[in-house]
Amino acid sequence: MALFPTHTGMVDLLPGETEKWQYLESLVREVARRYHFKEIRTPILEPTEMIARGVGQLTDIVSKEMFAFDRGDDHYVLRPEGTASVCRAYVQHHLDQRGGAQRLFYIGPMFRAERPQKGRQRQFHQFGAEILGSADPLADAEIIAFMVEVYRLVGITNMKLNINSVGDPESRQRYRETLVAYFTPVKDKLSEVSKTRLEVNPMRILDSKEEEDQAWIADAPVITDYLNQECRDHYEQVKAHLNALGIAFIEQPRLVRGLDYYTKTAFELTSPDLGSQDALGGGGRYDLLVEELGGAPTPAVGFASGMERLMIACEALGLPLGESAKPEVYIACHGQAARAWALSQADVLRKQGISCLFDTGGRSMKAQMKEADREHATWCLLVGDTELTSGHFVLRNMSTSTEETLDLSAIHERVRL
Ligand code: HAM
Repeated sequence: MALFPTHTGMVDLLPGETEKWQYLESLVREVARRYHFKEIRTPILEPTEMIARGVGQLTDIVSKEMFAFDRGDDHYVLRPEGTASVCRAYVQHHLDQRGGAQRLFYIGPMFRAERPQKGRQRQFHQFGAEILGSADPLADAEIIAFMVEVYRLVGITNMKLNINSVGDPESRQRYRETLVAYFTPVKDKLSEVSKTRLEVNPMRILDSKEEEDQAWIADAPVITDYLNQECRDHYEQVKAHLNALGIAFIEQPRLVRGLDYYTKTAFELTSPDLGSQDALGGGGRYDLLVEELGGAPTPAVGFASGMERLMIACEALGLPLGESAKPEVYIACHGQAARAWALSQADVLRKQGISCLFDTGGRSMKAQMKEADREHATWCLLVGDTELTSGHFVLRNMSTSTEETLDLSAIHERVRL
């Protein structure tokens, strides 16, 4: 047991795993390139008031799951998600003045003090994309296509896209009143969480996983019956664009999201390979958020996905995820002079773009050969005093176990092939 293990829900990523992460991150970047989204990096610590205002005071994230602290007069929070930060940056740096809709993506750690379980951590990682400055249903389709394309490129096909429209404030107000009228007579039969939600945020009852709520939820009125014409038209067009792209979806009129900023489109991508935390990613439209954070009215839409969950899905499917890097040349050296020579020779090879490793621990030739083998080196160069004097070295091909004696320029030529 380590003397100081990580906090619960915080995970080290070790060599062997980091290569897989790099590989998946490179695929996300590749999709971003193809869809022409540009990267944005925002601070991990954000002003607490901004996150509370953006994500919503009454959400679980803000009311229960924030890692927040004060320093002097400043209130800091470890960001629980990326969308509010992106909107803050958009307002702060006047990104609207750059012209056109802003197409931004990000990859990075997020923090929520949830109860950890498989696929749920306190520090986790998201990749996500946002389009700010477009109300067009085409933008919703672009965002969903970006998200789905990442999984397609990785090789995950077994997934479900659930979609809904949560309307605008006007539609939602009418729906909210209907829901309150529906749930109030059966309030006593609802779970404790849902009783509270009935007071503060009745739509969130639909998201309850509690057994006793399910029958009531199944018969509850659905928001799609309360959408005004504008929201209805928008939703129809989003679905038409998805159909045109061949992206299959399932309408889930009871889909609600855990963040308060959504308007109109809301969606979630789930996978049966994940277990109980089955959401690979989710998102939607948030036409009022930029204004809420002090900017001009700016319609926007985006998604975010969990990297850990993507990893779990890949592992469940046995998908290959990039290999550990191997040294091209291992210099095994005997004696002090050879070790000093290895340092400068490795420098020469590395400057030519060749990855190179040598022993810094003064170990025996046998131990060094073992390491060359363990690290799957392509070549092993054997150096001792005799070789240094003669200028001829033994170069061992590690996969065929054959050896040649060559001078330095011939070695450079051979390992560069
Ligand atoms: P979210 O649904 O809260 O949305 O999170 C998106 C994804 O992040 C989830 O589907 C899940 O894969 C992953 N995730 C969330 N919490 C955890 C956790 N504790 N451990 C591991 N993975 C987790 C958002 O964050 C919105 N910002 C999405 C968005 C972008 N909406 C518009 N633009």
